[in-house]
Amino acid sequence: MRDETMVTHRWDPDQYLKFAAERAKPFFDLLAMVEPVPGGDVIDLGCGTGELTTKLHAHTRAGATIGIDAAESMLARALPLAGNGLRFELGDISRFDSRACFDVVFANASLQWVPDHPRLLRQLAAGLRPGGQLAVQVPANADHPSHAVAFELAQQAPFLEHMGDDPVAGAHVVCAPQRYAELLDGMGFSDQLVRLQVYGHRLASSAAVVEWTKGTTLLRAKNLLPPDLFDLFVDRYERRLSEVLGEQAPYFYTFKRILFWARIPGSLSSAQ
Ligand SMILES: C[S@@+](CC[C@H](N)C(=O)[O-])C[C@H]1O[C@@H](n2cnc3c(N)ncnc32)[C@H](O)[C@@H]1O
Repeated sequence: MRDETMVTHRWDPDQYLKFAAERAKPFFDLLAMVEPVPGGDVIDLGCGTGELTTKLHAHTRAGATIGIDAAESMLARALPLAGNGLRFELGDISRFDSRACFDVVFANASLQWVPDHPRLLRQLAAGLRPGGQLAVQVPANADHPSHAVAFELAQQAPFLEHMGDDPVAGAHVVCAPQRYAELLDGMGFSDQLVRLQVYGHRLASSAAVVEWTKGTTLLRAKNLLPPDLFDLFVDRYERRLSEVLGEQAPYFYTFKRILFWARIPGSLSSAQ
């Protein structure tokens, strides 16, 4: 599935999984919104290291579940988990062009890396069979200092010239919850649930927030900056964040996320 135009994603699974338990909580909340589709077809977009895809496969009782991810480093952890109808492939969410072949399209904490959500959701909806379900969780924490400081730095020299045109920067990609509700309704979904949820994480200290964002948000900078500038970026980020948050131990890190689920009208897949 790799070709030379595919964007390289430099994810570090060990860094990402440092907060595996905290990151799994919204996944399970999203999973609880999905109705099983015994024998059906499911896709997990941006499946990462795949452990959670195994939970999705078991919960839906799908005949076939495919996890796709653009980062070879994450996928390498997922591949050994394949079997019993579950498989993994390298793939870019923005190129999703399946037509009516899935009963569930699922994306946990991945669509924030893909621009133009109104267009993207239309693409994903087109992949659903009648009665199919779309389930998505995206972070909505752009106004927290953990994210705001990173966006602020990206707008400053010497980072701006590398990061200024980043199509997934800032709060521009993730829509407001009510906008997702409107989009889903406009695309003909018959049932929907859209909610904003605040997850509170008790971290050892405010400095631990840097360890958290190194696994995700700061990857934007890592993907776009030369290595020496990335080191400088992290250094300034740490200093600025400590000015804004102060030295707190323990630190209660609030993280807002949008979860939404919707169903296309029609009878369930004939596979069930
Ligand atoms: C925050 S992780 C979430 C992983 C997994 N869904 C989970 O809940 O643990 C985001 C994942 O999305 C993947 N990703 C980001 N942009 C992508 C794209 N355009 N196409 C495919 N995967 C993408 C990353 O490689 C990463 O593994």
